[in-house]
Amino acid sequence: MFRTHTCGQLRLQDIATEVTLAGWVQTVRKFGSITFVDLRDRYGITQLLFGEELTIQLDTTPLGREFVVQVKGTVVERSNKNLALPTGEIEIAVGSFTILNSSAVPPFTIQDDTDGGDDLRMRYRYLDLRRGVVKRNIELRYAVNRATREYLHLQGFMDIETPFLIKSTPEGARDFVVPSRMNAGQFYALPQSPQTFKQLLMVSGYDRYYQIVKCFRDEDLRADRQPEFTQIDCEMAFVEQEDILTMFEGLIKFIFKQVKGIDYAETVERMTWEDAMWNYGIDKPDIRFGMKVANLKVPSTVYVDKQDSLKASPLAETSGFGVFDNAETVIAISVPGAAEYTRKQIDELTDWVKRPQVGMQGLVNIKYNADGTLKSSVDKFFNEEKLKAIAAYADAKPGELILILAGAEERTRKAISDLRLELGERLGLRKKEEFKLLWVLDFPLFEYDEEGNRWVARHHPFTSPKPTQISDMINNNPLIENASEYLKHPYANIKANAYDMVLNGNEIGGGSIRIFQRELQEKMFAALGMSKEEAQHKFGFLLGAFEYGAPPHGGIAFGFDRLCAILGGSESIRDFIAFPKNNSGRDVMLDAPASIDDKQLEELSIKLDLK
Ligand code: AMO
Repeated sequence: MFRTHTCGQLRLQDIATEVTLAGWVQTVRKFGSITFVDLRDRYGITQLLFGEELTIQLDTTPLGREFVVQVKGTVVERSNKNLALPTGEIEIAVGSFTILNSSAVPPFTIQDDTDGGDDLRMRYRYLDLRRGVVKRNIELRYAVNRATREYLHLQGFMDIETPFLIKSTPEGARDFVVPSRMNAGQFYALPQSPQTFKQLLMVSGYDRYYQIVKCFRDEDLRADRQPEFTQIDCEMAFVEQEDILTMFEGLIKFIFKQVKGIDYAETVERMTWEDAMWNYGIDKPDIRFGMKVANLKVPSTVYVDKQDSLKASPLAETSGFGVFDNAETVIAISVPGAAEYTRKQIDELTDWVKRPQVGMQGLVNIKYNADGTLKSSVDKFFNEEKLKAIAAYADAKPGELILILAGAEERTRKAISDLRLELGERLGLRKKEEFKLLWVLDFPLFEYDEEGNRWVARHHPFTSPKPTQISDMINNNPLIENASEYLKHPYANIKANAYDMVLNGNEIGGGSIRIFQRELQEKMFAALGMSKEEAQHKFGFLLGAFEYGAPPHGGIAFGFDRLCAILGGSESIRDFIAFPKNNSGRDVMLDAPASIDDKQLEELSIKLDLK
């Protein structure tokens, strides 16, 4: 036997057992005539004690860091116990050892606080993966994988593989393409998701499908995005939205329990997209803390349902303050305990909102002092009574600092959301070990693409409109005459049967109830500006399938890497992927992407024209 035990296994009750261990040398410490070695494997670390004779032997055959060794010896009780280690009460009195392989000096230390920078660690990812912190992430990922499979299997879902070499599936990103040698001049696309396949499986009658599957999207990368990432992809037939929400909050709760030991007993909160945008400025609010925003002024074409409440705003009429009067949108947030902020602190916040990433011109503040008096940076334009009205409208309390942003609707709303998250962070309200799930419902069906002057599907083109709004879609011409007034077009207000699951301010999953009739699907393609021929060319297979008894169906996909990262308390999904790409989409270990040789290009009938 190569080894009788792992390096994480032996305890006091094993004393006097003869054992064989194998692993990597973590550290070598010589104390006079004896030597201690920490031996590491996937399961833990065990201390080895080399006596006098063996220590002499080590002088001629030294052990270096990351050497692979096998030792035979006896388990003995340690005199100097290390209770921080599970094996810390014992050590192995080594009888003999064999060096199975030597190791070059590793480019960084293989321990939790490593001295290796990101790039170096990625270049030697196989060494990075030996570190305890990374290993725990990979273990967590496997635990989430197992829990997912267990839950879905028990619920009658079948894991069915779908192809990777396919034709484009629009999910809003660019495709990665693969040239076909056998069909010169033609390309496969890698799936942005298995969307159309899972719908076809519903037509085929496999009414509960899932897959933990790779998806490929050529898009701008961020901490929570990779060009190839993994989804828990699911689809169900004969369901309504409610069935999907229930089934999949069950999945996430099961994962919480299995992986984190958390009983998420409360019902998952629900919010419409409109309420999320209105109250938090974003479609994926972090509801671990309050601090809702107050809409003082909003253009009348958006949030049509909210227009009544706007009438009560102190800014419903012109205020005499140009910055507010000329702005499309004015939004406020009240910060608890911040009325006492110094000038310097407020200046720092002002600089923060002026950074290019946030992009605001300035920050207006009103101090609502604990004694009830109000003092603002715009006292010239607003008397105490006006300030009081603003404070009341913003639901501010004495002791709070009201911060106000003004500008174009989209940017200002995004900025107030960023500011809210930043303040939440600074005030310690975004606790890592607290988990808050939220369903965001009723997303808009369309989004307007200003560059292309056309409507695009907000989720994807297979998402169904709210049944009551189908006629708005069918009976209105999608064309827009005046691009700047797209919000007045009836399409801007059509909502979809679409939902996202949000965890602590991150979109961990999204899905929808699908269109399942050929005619409506054709209408949708037309609404997106596709000609009949183009729709037939791109999606003839799906339209065809819908003619053969397609059942009502819907589904969802979770970002598996993202879910793991959040459960592991990290913002970056890279830490939870064994071999991730860097922010430029490169694998620095493989040095990919890379050029291919002329012969390969010739076989593919490809000529490069590099600029
Ligand atoms: P969607 O595009 O919303 O839906 O994707 C589902 C979830 O996948 C995660 N995600 C990503 N994770 C890492 N890197 C990326 N580049 C990336 N892009 C998306 C997010 C997201 O919520 N076919 C539909 C699902 C459906 O309708 O059933 C789809 O792919 O967490």
